Amino acid sequence: MKNIKDIDIVGKRLLIRVDFNVPLDSLGNITDDTRIRGVLPTINYALDEHAEIIICSHLGRPKGQRLEKFSLAPVAKRLARLIDKDVRLAPDCVGDEVKAMTGQMKPGDIILLENLRYHSEEQENDEGFARQLAELADIYINDAFAVAHRAHASVVGVTTFFTECAAGFLLQKEMDYFHRSMGDPRRPLVAIIGGAKVSSKLGALRNLIDRVDKLIIGGAMANTFLKAMGCSVGQSKVEDDLLETAASLIKSAAEKGVKLYLPVDCIVGDRLEPKAETMRTTVQEVPDSWMMLDIGPATTMLFSEALENAKTIIWNGPMGAFEMDAFSRGTMAMVERLADSHALTIVGGGDTDVAVHKAGESHNISYISTGGGAFLMLMEGKDLPGVAALREKNNYR
Ligand code: 3PG
Repeated sequence: MKNIKDIDIVGKRLLIRVDFNVPLDSLGNITDDTRIRGVLPTINYALDEHAEIIICSHLGRPKGQRLEKFSLAPVAKRLARLIDKDVRLAPDCVGDEVKAMTGQMKPGDIILLENLRYHSEEQENDEGFARQLAELADIYINDAFAVAHRAHASVVGVTTFFTECAAGFLLQKEMDYFHRSMGDPRRPLVAIIGGAKVSSKLGALRNLIDRVDKLIIGGAMANTFLKAMGCSVGQSKVEDDLLETAASLIKSAAEKGVKLYLPVDCIVGDRLEPKAETMRTTVQEVPDSWMMLDIGPATTMLFSEALENAKTIIWNGPMGAFEMDAFSRGTMAMVERLADSHALTIVGGGDTDVAVHKAGESHNISYISTGGGAFLMLMEGKDLPGVAALREKNNYR
C-alpha cells in the first residue's frame, strides 16, 4: 500500500479519514482514547510536513440525524490535549460554512469535521456527498482501519475524486501485523476464537481452518460445538440451528490436519449474574439447570499447552463472561499466557482488547488491533473495501 510517506504532502491540504468512534460515558466523557492515540503518528507527521489537516470521522450510529450526543466535540478537545495544539471543530462535515472555514487554513492548522454520519449519504456511499468531501482538500489519507470494512463515502467513494490517496501509519501498521499473523506467519500458527456466537464467526472459523496449525475454541460459542459432540450443556447458550455446521467444522479441521481444542471442563453458574452460584464441572456433566460461563482450570491448562510451541498467536473473543469477576478467570489466564509467550501475539475484536487492558498486559502483546468488525473481516479472508479502494486507486495488485 502507498502510505503517507510515499507522497509529497508539504504545504498541502489533507483530508484524513480516521475512526474516532470512541466509547463515551453517560456524561459524554471519553472512556478509552486508544483510537485517538492510534492516529497521532500520522497527525504529527503531517504537522512536521507543514500540511493543513482536515480530519473526518463518524461517531456512533446517528442514522443521518444531527443528535448532540453523537457530536465529535469531546473528541476535538481530547485530540487538542494530546497534541497540545488547537483543534477547531467544524459545525458540519460538508456545506458552505465548512468550505469557507477550510478555505482559510494555514499550514499546521487542524480542523475536525463534525460527525460524518449526521448525513445518511455517508453510509450510502453517495457520490455527491463523497465529491463534496473531496472538494475540501488536495490529498486523501485513510487512517481508519476500524471502519475500513464499511464501503462508505468517506472510506471508498471519496477516493474517486482525489488524484492522490494513501494510507496513514495506523492503517499501514494494522495491515502489516495482520499479514505477519495470517498471510505469511511463522509457524506453528495458533488461533484462539471465543465470544458469544458461532454465527457471527462462521466465516472466520472456515477461513482459519484453511490456514492455522491449531484452533482453540472457547467462550459461549464452544457450547454449540460441545452439544454437537453429544455433551449435555444444561441451560448454556447454544445455537441449535448450527449444530450440523459445528459438526462439519470439526470434521473439516480433522481432514485438514488442524488440531482443534475445545473445553474439557468449565465454570457453570445458576444464572448469568455477578452473584450467581458457581461450580466447576466437566463438559460432560453440566447439570440441567446450570449454564457454562467460563472455561475451567483443566481447559486453561490444555489451551496453555497448545500455545507452548506457537510462533504466532492470533486471538479474537473472550473465553467466558469475563466482565463478571466470577467468570473472568479463564480469559484472564489466557491473557497471561499470551503475555508470557515468545510468539508474535496479535489480539483484535470482540472485547478481547478490553480483557488485555483489564489485565494490565497490553504492553506484553505484540499488537492490539483498533478494529472489531474490520479485524473479523480480515480473519474471514476477505478484502477490506477501504483498503481495496486505496489499492485500486494506486494500481497496486
Ligand atoms: C467500529 O467501532 O467497529 C467502527 O467504528 C465501525 O462502526 P459501525 O459498526 O457503526 O460501522
